[in-house]
Amino acid sequence: DIKKIITIDGPSGSGKGTITQLVAQKLNWHILDSGALYRVLGLAAQRHGIAFSEVATVAELARNMDLQFRINDENGEVEPILEGENLAPFVRTDEAGQAASQVAVIAEVREALLARQRDFYQSPGLVADGRDMGTIVFPDAPAKIFLTASAECRAERRFNQLKNKGVNANMRALLDSIKARDERDQTRSVAPLVPAEGAFVVDSSNLTISEVLTQVLEFASKSM
Ligand code: C5P
Repeated sequence: DIKKIITIDGPSGSGKGTITQLVAQKLNWHILDSGALYRVLGLAAQRHGIAFSEVATVAELARNMDLQFRINDENGEVEPILEGENLAPFVRTDEAGQAASQVAVIAEVREALLARQRDFYQSPGLVADGRDMGTIVFPDAPAKIFLTASAECRAERRFNQLKNKGVNANMRALLDSIKARDERDQTRSVAPLVPAEGAFVVDSSNLTISEVLTQVLEFASKSM
């Protein structure tokens, strides 16, 4: 039987995280935030003093790390628990994002994380957020979305996010960081960031969150 899966792929800052949460809420489905797996792995490697160039050792860590996801009862947020430690305060930082995109280029690492990602599928359905959800991890998903936005627009959103948190950010540096990560994600030889065949491409540059949500839900309901 056909698995109920909606994949949402795209570059960082395109609004995937937000849309994934809203779609999952609306349908009452589960979520896979695959970026969090790569982020945690990057942090874990750093903590264990493993250089990203030590490919086999990083892959071994990917296979064996003791990682669970737990829902915080108070705020409903999903917290990654690595070896008993709650990494939630560190996982969304730019440093973790950069570390993630470095371990993510390793083919053996991606292979090692496949089973962990597929294990997230549970009835009644799964919304999977990432870069290769529709191309590699869930190629049979009935509804595939590719969500994008211009680099400038994504930098601006990130800038405002940080400003709201009271963090002083530099627009130029944010834009450079986004472009560097795009470049690494799009040009890597394993699982590069590209729309899956048959994916519904949404450019959110000039759309509100609720406009994107409507388009995604409409596409998903037609596809399932
Ligand atoms: O989505 P997020 O910004 O959390 O992802 C962090 C990094 O992890 C990305 O820049 C990408 O290099 C990597 N990643 C990936 N494949 C995924 C999800 C994330 O390569 N499915």
